[in-house]
Amino acid sequence: MEGAIHSKMKPAAGVGPEVVIRMRDLHKAFGANKVLKGFDLDVRRGENVMVLGKSGSGKSVLIKCIVGLLRPDQGQVMVLGQDVYALGQDDLDHLRVRIGFLFQSSALYDSMTVRENLEFPLRRHWFAQSAEERDALVKEALENVGLEHTSDLYPSELSGGMRRRIGLARTLILKPEIVLYDEPTTGLDPITGKEIVELILRLQKKYGTSSVIISHDLNVAKLAANRIAILMDGRNYVEGSYDELRSMRDPVVQQFFIFM
Ligand SMILES: Nc1ncnc2c1ncn2[C@@H]1O[C@H](COP(=O)(O)OP(=O)(O)OP(=O)(O)O)[C@@H](O)[C@H]1O
Ligand SMILES: [Mg+2]
Repeated sequence: MEGAIHSKMKPAAGVGPEVVIRMRDLHKAFGANKVLKGFDLDVRRGENVMVLGKSGSGKSVLIKCIVGLLRPDQGQVMVLGQDVYALGQDDLDHLRVRIGFLFQSSALYDSMTVRENLEFPLRRHWFAQSAEERDALVKEALENVGLEHTSDLYPSELSGGMRRRIGLARTLILKPEIVLYDEPTTGLDPITGKEIVELILRLQKKYGTSSVIISHDLNVAKLAANRIAILMDGRNYVEGSYDELRSMRDPVVQQFFIFM
């Protein structure tokens, strides 16, 4: 089965590419710690947007606000045309099925085999599948990440790179229209990290997904990001292509490229 489970809306003629995520004036504080202070960002269909920011700047908070895992104090998040914080629980659950989330740690369940980990989102899904359909989805997910032979292994029997691939397979098993990646390559060696980036790109092309990718990785910036936004002091400080940001003289922007 190619493409997202849900119908792909075509943008109306002359309107330009459809915006699948729209964040406006997002504010989020924890006590006195003001993390987001008026953040804005648009993600268009089929696009990979990378968010760069220092550790603790609020990147994970930001993507949790997209899926309703953290409620912003102020502002609006529109996902696939729906106002996330105006939805009831049922509608929010249905919307979440269309969004994949790769957490900062790959967060596999240690007590479950690879197959059981992959089946987990399928069991929680409102759309019932037969055992055959479930088997086919697990098989396709494992093939996508080149790990067909691992289905009966436990996460502790996999390397870090393999765990990340299985995490990616689990995130993508319901063919989400939007995927949110929180540090998909952190903690991996550069070669394995690059393989993960190539996998993300291949799956983006295969399924036509739109993504927000949080990362510090040069390969992500150069190979995977159609656009990069810099989260600075709670706001979208600047956004542009890798080449545009790289050539900016602004020291705030430059600091992110010194180590890249
Ligand atoms: N649930 C929470 N309760 C209280 N404070 C929180 C919570 N989640 C995040 N924070 C605070 O929000 C700030 C931003 O955290 P966040 O995890 O978004 O940073 P980050 O940019 O993802 O950093 P890193 O690059 O290290 O992952 C931090 O000061 C953190 O302590
Ligand atoms: Mg984080």
